[in-house]
Amino acid sequence: MNNPKPEISVRLIRPIDCSAQLIDAYKTLLLAHTSVKDSHFRQGLAGVEQFVIAVADNAKLVGTACLKYQSRKYQQYLFKQAGVPEMYNPDSIESAWVCVHPDFRGMGIWNKMHEIRSSYLGNRPYHATHRVENHPVSKRTERRDGYRQAGKDFNSVTSEYKLRLVVANHDLVYDPVKKLIYGTLPEKGN
Ligand SMILES: CC(C)(COP(=O)(O)OP(=O)(O)OC[C@H]1O[C@@H](n2cnc3c(N)ncnc32)[C@H](O)[C@@H]1OP(=O)(O)O)[C@@H](O)C(=O)NCCC(=O)NCCS
Repeated sequence: MNNPKPEISVRLIRPIDCSAQLIDAYKTLLLAHTSVKDSHFRQGLAGVEQFVIAVADNAKLVGTACLKYQSRKYQQYLFKQAGVPEMYNPDSIESAWVCVHPDFRGMGIWNKMHEIRSSYLGNRPYHATHRVENHPVSKRTERRDGYRQAGKDFNSVTSEYKLRLVVANHDLVYDPVKKLIYGTLPEKGN
């Protein structure tokens, strides 16, 4: 007998609203199916603005993603390595820790997580890095998702793989006047 299709709900949740059990389940899923290490997770946790979670049948955590700040130094390093230090934007938030449980892949969960993340971000600048050889991710990012590649593929001290930096709502040269408003600037006097 076929299992009925699970009901998937996707939402954003701030770290302060998460139970210890949820953080634990998030970490377990992420560390089991990606190259994220425990030390990296613990370090990154302090910078998380929002987690994105996918839950099956109101019971099981099956998808993770997040929006988090990186240290200024590391973020500057990434843009320098990509050959575009002038694109470094201190207001840009990183989209990271994307993982869907292997039993739940191919059901559109990543697409749903992407939609909710994009509608939350609006026109704020954001960026992500991924392995060039991770074809589902690199191919998709090139053809949709609103990202564009920043600079060229590069090596980083943090990875043994070649990395690609992608950005959304960034200018070719950072404009500090824009802050978080990266679409249309409000009219003067409004
Ligand atoms: C990459 C990953 C998040 C995809 O999750 P998913 O929920 O199965 O993806 P979806 O079902 O929402 O599919 C999204 C799109 O990617 C495509 N896709 C998904 N997996 C794919 C694969 N292995 N090969 C090619 N395309 C793939 C789908 O066809 C779909 O394309 P469409 O929107 O044009 O129809 C999941 O495979 C995963 O967790 N991988 C390991 C961790 C990882 O690579 N994280 C990203 C690090 S940056």
